[in-house]
Amino acid sequence: LTNGVARTPPMGWNSWNHFQCNIDEWTVKNTADALISTGLAALGYKYINIDDCWAEGKRDWRGNLREKSSTFPSGIKSLADYVHAKGLKLGIYSDAGYKTCSKTMPGSLGHEDIDARTFAEWGIDYLKYDNCYHDGSKPLDRFARMSYALQKVARPILYAICEWGEENPAKWASQYGNAWRTTTDIKDIWESITSIADENNIWGRYAGPGRWNDPDMLEVGNGGMSLEEYQSHFSIWAIMKAPLLIGCDIRSASRETLWILGNKEVIDVNQDPLGVQARKIRSKAGLEVWAGPLSSRRVVIVLWNRSKYRAPISVGWREVGLSPSNPVSVRDLWAHSFISKGIRSRLTAHVAPHACKMYILTSI
Ligand code: GLA
Repeated sequence: LTNGVARTPPMGWNSWNHFQCNIDEWTVKNTADALISTGLAALGYKYINIDDCWAEGKRDWRGNLREKSSTFPSGIKSLADYVHAKGLKLGIYSDAGYKTCSKTMPGSLGHEDIDARTFAEWGIDYLKYDNCYHDGSKPLDRFARMSYALQKVARPILYAICEWGEENPAKWASQYGNAWRTTTDIKDIWESITSIADENNIWGRYAGPGRWNDPDMLEVGNGGMSLEEYQSHFSIWAIMKAPLLIGCDIRSASRETLWILGNKEVIDVNQDPLGVQARKIRSKAGLEVWAGPLSSRRVVIVLWNRSKYRAPISVGWREVGLSPSNPVSVRDLWAHSFISKGIRSRLTAHVAPHACKMYILTSI
C-alpha cells in the first residue's frame, strides 16, 4: 500500500509472543523505556505494538471501543503521548470479525470507520488486524473495509493484515495493507522457524517497499531455542525483509539476546532501500543457500545448516548472479569482519548444526 509508511520493513516490539493477554500500561511504558536504554530504538526499533486483550469486552453507549480500565487506566491516548515523547510509535490490534482471537474484546467488523477514527484520535501509528470470529465473507472484502477506513483518517497508519496466509494474501493484500501474515502463528521452537521460513519464501516476489510478507514476530529471547537457532531465525527473517518485531521481554533481555537483536549489520540488510526479499536458492540434506540482491549491486548470502551435523556449505558467484571471474570482498555480518579481500568464484564455510553464516558480497 502506498500510504507513505513501511518503505522498509517495520521494526519494533509486540506484546503477544511473550505476554499474550497479560499486558498493561506499565509493561508497555517500561518496554518503551527499555527500548531506549538498551539502544534498540536507536537501531530502528520504533513501534511499540499492543496486541490482543487491551479493550473492555463491550463498546461504550456510542459504539466506541474502550480501553480496559483495570489494565490501561490512563488510557491509550496518554500511552501514545508517552511513547511519542520518546520518539517512538504506538501500535494497536483489532480484528476483522465480531470478536478478537482471545474472545475478550470486540472486533471491528461493521465498525471499521468508527474504530479507525478512534485509533487516529488516540495517535495510533500501526494497526495489526486479525482474522477471528468473522461472518464467513471473503478476507479480501473484510480487510479492504478497514483499509478504506484507515485511508479516510488524517493520520498515516501502518496497516498489517493478519490473515495467516489462508487465501494467499500475497496475491491481493498489497493494495490494501503494508504487510500480510503468510503463515499460522509462530512458536518458540526450531520446527516452527524452519517451516515458516519455507512457506514465507514462496511469496518472495510480491514483497517490496510499502508491502511486505510477514512470517510473524520474532521469538528471539523467549528461551525455547539455542543461541545458534535464534541467530538463524533473526538472519533469515532479516533477509526475507520480514517486519522485525521483537517478541521477548526487553526489560530482562540477556546480553546474548541483545547481541542478536542489536546486530546493526544484519538490521541494515533488512532495512536496505532496494527492498527485495532474498530467497532459498539451493537446498540439499538440510544444507541451504539463501541469497538476494541489495542496493549498490551488493549480494547478501546466508548459508544455513538445518542438519544435525557440522558441515561445509559452499556457494559459487554464478549462483548468486555475480561473474565467477569477479573479485569480491566478503563481509561476515556475525563476526563483523572481512574474511578476505578479492576472493574469486566461490566461498565455502563450515557451519555448526542449526547455525548459519551471513555475508555481504561486494564487487571490487
Ligand atoms: C492470532 C494472531 C496472533 C495474536 C493472537 C491474539 O492468533 O495470529 O499473532 O495476535 O491472535 O489473540
